[in-house]
Amino acid sequence: MRTQVAIIGAGPSGLLLGQLLTRAGIDNIILEQRTGDYVLSRIRAGVLEQGTVGMLEEAGVADRLHREGLVHDGFLISFANRSHRIDLPGLTNGKTVTVYGQTEVTRDLMDARATSNAQTIYEAENVEIHDFDTTNPVIHFTHQGVAQTLECDFVAGCDGYHGPSRKSVPVGAIKEFERVYPFGWLGVLADVPPASHELVYANHERGFALCSMRSLTRSRYYVQVALDEKVEDWSDSRFYTELRARLPEDIAAGVVEGPSIEKSIAPLRSFVAEPLRFGRLFLAGDAGHIVPPTGAKGLNLAASDIRYLFDALVEYYAEKSEAGINDYSARALRRIWKAERFSWWMTKTLHHFPADSGFDQRIQLAELDYLASSVAASTAVAENYVGLPY
Ligand code: APR
Ligand code: PHB
Repeated sequence: MRTQVAIIGAGPSGLLLGQLLTRAGIDNIILEQRTGDYVLSRIRAGVLEQGTVGMLEEAGVADRLHREGLVHDGFLISFANRSHRIDLPGLTNGKTVTVYGQTEVTRDLMDARATSNAQTIYEAENVEIHDFDTTNPVIHFTHQGVAQTLECDFVAGCDGYHGPSRKSVPVGAIKEFERVYPFGWLGVLADVPPASHELVYANHERGFALCSMRSLTRSRYYVQVALDEKVEDWSDSRFYTELRARLPEDIAAGVVEGPSIEKSIAPLRSFVAEPLRFGRLFLAGDAGHIVPPTGAKGLNLAASDIRYLFDALVEYYAEKSEAGINDYSARALRRIWKAERFSWWMTKTLHHFPADSGFDQRIQLAELDYLASSVAASTAVAENYVGLPY
């Protein structure tokens, strides 16, 4: 088999790149370890920056997003039993975010790919990437028990944090930067109307809580928990009681209880690999970096990586220029580190850190009090939340 761009991973990064390439007439094949249904079963955040929406429009997959997505022009940060609203358009010259689940983005991309001629090989096993330091990289994999070889011009490593792309790089050629946080998020999805029509990020002495949504009839809630907590120990009623305890009274009063349709605990991590390009292998999305979910930057950062990578590949095929390819890593990393900073800041400002002293806790509350009283500080939050320019 041969293609121009071999894409490893059919998550949002790989599917978005594939769709853009196909529309630009650049041949690509996606190799995905799991089944399509498995990929769709993963529940993740759901706040899209305008730049991400623009990319999905360019990929021709934004019709349902425009019909069903909820445009939000603000969110609340609550602390000390008060709430501060971040007015997104008012602080960013009119920008907003769109609430639309990552699962739905993935489904729309999968549907579009299915109607194009582009090939996706699901359940591709034992993917190994070779010769990416030459102009003819080769990928070996097994499909339905048969060994296969895929030759290509470029490899896009869109295979998430645990995928083989980053691991193919010699240890001495890559640097990794990491912060692991001493807590996780227990999340519940339920078919009940959201407690608030805007998202609420709550700092509370019992721990962080978040009220989010997927639609006007489906809520997504989270509470910070210790890393050794077990999902089995959290009945729905215990969860809702804890959630309400961490919210300002008026918002807690709006929480409607309903049976959870998904409940899971996720750890929080910040991670960046440098560089993101090794000869003809590129890392994009979670393969190259992870953000904690506070701020919902994961999918949006994947989209901005794909913006830079797609432009670089188009430039290569249309103009025979390697300038964009040579610049990919540095360009992507500049934006990644800023989103890492924002996600880290949101995380450290809103969570209860078990080892923190009274001093640290007072500083946290002072930071939030300052945010609530300063247009400058609120503007900084707003412009990061809607997404920094590409
Ligand atoms: N071979 C082929 N595919 C693989 C392999 C492998 N050995 N290992 C992993 N994959 C696939 C995974 O099964 C998954 O479908 O790569 C895909 C990676 O998808 P994601 O983890 O969703 O990563 P990405 O597409 O970069 O999306 C980033 O997802 O994790 C969230 O917060 C993150 O929203 C962000 C988005
Ligand atoms: C979510 O809806 O799952 C969500 C929203 C905002 C975040 C994180 C997660 O910051």
